[in-house]
Amino acid sequence: MKVGLLWMSALLGAATAGSAFAAGPHPRARPALASFTTAQAYQGRFAYIQNCGECHGGDLGGQFGPALAGPHSNVPWQTPAAFYSYMTQQMPVGNAGGLSQTDYLNIAAFVLQSNGRRAGAKRLTISAITNDTAALDQSR
Ligand code: HEC
Repeated sequence: MKVGLLWMSALLGAATAGSAFAAGPHPRARPALASFTTAQAYQGRFAYIQNCGECHGGDLGGQFGPALAGPHSNVPWQTPAAFYSYMTQQMPVGNAGGLSQTDYLNIAAFVLQSNGRRAGAKRLTISAITNDTAALDQSR
């Protein structure tokens, strides 16, 4: 009886260790998520309201232009890289590419945050966002 229980716990231990080892994809297979700060997203909110809000809605829910967040938006399914490239080349309508790099990055931080990405310690950079090829909304 005692021997039997020892065997059981040894087997359980091996099974637990085995599954923990095998869990999840290889870390290197995941694209790096672009980091941004709360301050950037906060500043981006103002730049967004000034330059985008009249068409895309103050809450990003869409108005004259499509929604940039939420269940009726395509943006959550896009990659930050694609979003950034489109926004900086085509937006705002009537002044395409006309904002400063800082404003575009801050607006991107605000849109990332509005789609559920969490702020971190590092400021958003162009290379970080153009290398982020994961789904913008990680819950999709
Ligand atoms: C004058 C109105 C207007 C302004 C201002 C404007 N947009 Fe747009 N935006 C549009 C319209 C209209 C579309 C749809 C374009 C199309 O389908 O060809 C669009 C499309 C987009 C898309 C693509 C959405 C999708 O579903 O793929 C993004 C992203 C975007 N805008 C971001 C921005 C950002 C960020 C700003 C501010 C820097 C901005 N826009 C300013 C009107 C505007």
